[in-house]
Amino acid sequence: MSRPNSDAASRTNSQFPADLLVVLDRTRPRSLRAQLESELRRLIQSSQVPAGTRLPPSRTLAEDLGVARSVVVEAYGQLASDGYLDAHQGSATTVRAVATSRSEGGRAGTAPASTVRFIGGLPDPGLFPRAEWQRHYRAALTAVSDRELGYPGPLGASALREALTGYLGRVRGVMTSPGQLLVTSGVTQALTLLCGVLRARGVRAVALEDPCFGVHREIVVRAGLRPVAIPVDQDGLDIARLTAHEIGAVLIAPAHSYPMGAVLSGARRSALLDWARGSGGLIIEDDYDAEFRYDRTPIGALQGLAPEHVVHAGCVSKTLTPALRLGWLALPSDLVDEVAAEKMYADMGSTLLEQLALARFVAGGGFARHLRRVRPTYRRKRDTAIRALAAALPDARPLGVAAGLHLYVQLPSECDEQRLVAQARDRGVLVEGASWHWAEPHLAPPALVLGYGSLAESAIRDGIAVVASCRS
Ligand SMILES: Cc1ncc(COP(=O)(O)O)c(C=O)c1O
Repeated sequence: MSRPNSDAASRTNSQFPADLLVVLDRTRPRSLRAQLESELRRLIQSSQVPAGTRLPPSRTLAEDLGVARSVVVEAYGQLASDGYLDAHQGSATTVRAVATSRSEGGRAGTAPASTVRFIGGLPDPGLFPRAEWQRHYRAALTAVSDRELGYPGPLGASALREALTGYLGRVRGVMTSPGQLLVTSGVTQALTLLCGVLRARGVRAVALEDPCFGVHREIVVRAGLRPVAIPVDQDGLDIARLTAHEIGAVLIAPAHSYPMGAVLSGARRSALLDWARGSGGLIIEDDYDAEFRYDRTPIGALQGLAPEHVVHAGCVSKTLTPALRLGWLALPSDLVDEVAAEKMYADMGSTLLEQLALARFVAGGGFARHLRRVRPTYRRKRDTAIRALAAALPDARPLGVAAGLHLYVQLPSECDEQRLVAQARDRGVLVEGASWHWAEPHLAPPALVLGYGSLAESAIRDGIAVVASCRS
């Protein structure tokens, strides 16, 4: 088994490279301390600053970066308490040989060669309907005219927008039309486009669930918008807290919040729509995990209740594979042109042949049949994960179990999340710590995001046993 930091760990006490790129952007709303902390974390996670490296004294780094010394002292202090650094009075601050949740989680950075990889929200690649997809792709390629083999246009292939209009209306209660649907490269691009439009419209702040998918918070920040963290409890986002802030939009996954798996309650759905109608703010609905629901009746999309106040975002990353990079937005009419312009300048439109293959898959009913076929398999995997956790980690509490491809596992408060993640990795199990999804990672209660979707049941059992063995 190779470990990302094993080579690095052997090079103990190397010097911090003086020319290493640390980017601090003074135009961003994020504080310099937070930026420095996340830059250093990134450099450690990617092993660009390997374990054992001596960091420069705070005064020296502060001078190099042109910031107050307290900025560096606080960033070092935070990283030390997060377990990234060893800092002792009177001696140099050095990088610890613990890797971190984000790179280990497999979302970013170098993936280690672990035997069991619990990746949050990944579907089983073995369930991708290869033969059917091949058939639809071949048919699409045969049928496409020479005239169509040009730029696909910013809204996307009309055949796919028609197929999705019907499917989303039937299955999710989404009220849209082909003219208001825009095909994207996944939800990731959908959010990037929307944030660009919001920013151009003068919006300054966007509310996000806390915790939320860490990448989404970063998308908001990169667009020059201020993320406002609103807590999530068992009833979903605490809508009452929205009114305390001046925000232009709220990003929410009402069907199954990520990573905690909360479902927005009926009362809060109404309150959220009231907020949008009253404030003119936009609701961005990430229809996350809506298709994989095991223990309760399906919940319709929010968008169907107020199509002019809600943007609905979806994708095939969980239902088919993230490798396709296909997603969509159902837009209020007044946003279509602006989002289409963003898409135009982002990539001149999404890849056409995949869109045409998906259109055939959806329109012919194969996509819905595929979901019916794979749902029981994911349910069995989910049950296996819950049983294995109950047996091996009885004091841990799985949340969000009713849907999706992962569990949010609350650990006992004395548990050290980072250490558990690092020890599990050393024993060949890749599991993601949950703290990086929180607005204040150092305040996050210890937890794991246990993605079971891509694993065989035996691997789920074995992997959880290994994680449990790291507790002692
Ligand atoms: C909360 C959430 N929404 C949506 C997505 C899907 O993103 P994409 O469609 O870009 O693959 C993810 C992926 O991990 C996610 O965590």
